[in-house]
Amino acid sequence: MRDLMAITERPEIISLAGGLPDTSTFSAELYRDLQAGIAADGQVARALQYGPTEGTAAAKECVAQVMLAEGARVDSDDLLITTGGQQVIDLLCKTLIDPGDVIVAEAPTYPGAVPTFNAYEADVVQIEMDRDGMRVDILEETLARLEAEGRRPKFIYTIPNFQNPAGVTLSLPRRRRLVQIARERELLVLEDNPYGLLRYEGDPLPTLFALDGGEFVVYLGTFSKILSPGIRLGWSAAPRPVLEKMNLGKQGADLCSSSLTQYFVAAYFATGGWKAYVRSLAEVYRRRRDVMLDSLAEHLPREARWTHPEGGIFIWVSLPEYIDTTDLLARALEENVAFVPGRAAYLDGRGASSMRVNFSGVTEDDIREGVRRIGKIVKEQVFLYGTLTGAEPVAEPDRSPSTDADSASRRGRSPERGRSPQRGRSPQRGRSPDGDRSPDAAPDADRQAGRDRSPDPARSAIAGGRDHGDDLDGTLADVLHLPRREDGPQRAERPR
Ligand SMILES: Cc1ncc(COP(=O)(O)O)c(C=O)c1O
Repeated sequence: MRDLMAITERPEIISLAGGLPDTSTFSAELYRDLQAGIAADGQVARALQYGPTEGTAAAKECVAQVMLAEGARVDSDDLLITTGGQQVIDLLCKTLIDPGDVIVAEAPTYPGAVPTFNAYEADVVQIEMDRDGMRVDILEETLARLEAEGRRPKFIYTIPNFQNPAGVTLSLPRRRRLVQIARERELLVLEDNPYGLLRYEGDPLPTLFALDGGEFVVYLGTFSKILSPGIRLGWSAAPRPVLEKMNLGKQGADLCSSSLTQYFVAAYFATGGWKAYVRSLAEVYRRRRDVMLDSLAEHLPREARWTHPEGGIFIWVSLPEYIDTTDLLARALEENVAFVPGRAAYLDGRGASSMRVNFSGVTEDDIREGVRRIGKIVKEQVFLYGTLTGAEPVAEPDRSPSTDADSASRRGRSPERGRSPQRGRSPQRGRSPDGDRSPDAAPDADRQAGRDRSPDPARSAIAGGRDHGDDLDGTLADVLHLPRREDGPQRAERPR
């Protein structure tokens, strides 16, 4: 992921790979005034000094305001200010994980948590999701299985709101059930909630922390997506014994988080404008999300599926199984566009034909052009597959050069749709045991329109199922250099 981010720094690349908020929306004048105010109030020496490990009282007061806006009350003694929310993940692992310990996470999960879990040598068990977030019925089955094996997870890691990377949101009944499960089994839940206040439609849902009353839920919050990731400030609200251990871990890691930026946040919140700023961010991101959804519908072939996030900054796209998005990324970089390949969100090699795309850190024009370029290379792959397997291609590859002028002329044009029914799809998608619609149960009209506008994870890539590839024979797979099932996470080289 870090390598990918370094590559996407190149100015010619339209990066839909990052998870960046648009910090250009923050007023330069306000930034200058806040710093000047800190100096005028005689706070420079303290701002330049070490601070308490748990964070300054003023920064905790700001956190309490944010948590209240999320519907959760928190006592400042139950808070730890951290160096970004990322540090909470690290500190909880540092506190709890010995090599081989089980962490239960969603499938897919936050790609930034993957290296942390790996560094602590955790055994991560991933639970499928659908449009309503983590399948708690599967979670219960998994917990029962682990118990039978004498294995007790150290914690359950979940991103309930506008999940990174899937974009889906955990429904209220599942939130309640998850909290109940945690209580029944006395299991900790790490609730990672960077995006809760960035909602563009639908009603806010209570945090797990609020539902649980802070007994079994360790809450992770951050200023990164509602103010700035550059200030590197996040926090945890957690049961005291856990918080004390994390505090010790933090002393060993960095003594304290930046005093400078804690003073900055306190000065900023004192202006009273933070909620209005978050609302303005949400408005910008909602428009970008809509542009991305429209662009995906216009440029991706009908085999593609994607989620419809009600908030947050990511959409998850699933392509036919014969397309490997890690390979596709190399081709995408030639076209000066980037995304996160789905494998980055799994610890077991799944996600090979999915990708995460971001809409918060890119202009509307770049979103349109970036998605157009992705659509072009995806269509190439679909066409190639159709040609070599004899399956009638559903879309001609877009052979036009990637120029802005060309893309402008394509905007508004309906995507090329195929004529033949697709081969090799497995139709057996039903209802999940808890009565939810399974990911592939999208209405036919949506499917025929080449898109799934429901808040449903893209389809079986999330549910771990398989739609494509049944009609690959060995020879053709070799010709195409396509991964075969038994190849698992290993991939062959991309065809040139
Ligand atoms: C789900 C999730 N958790 C944690 C983080 C870490 O953010 P930060 O350390 O900037 O607070 C991110 C950042 O993108 C994220 O998406």
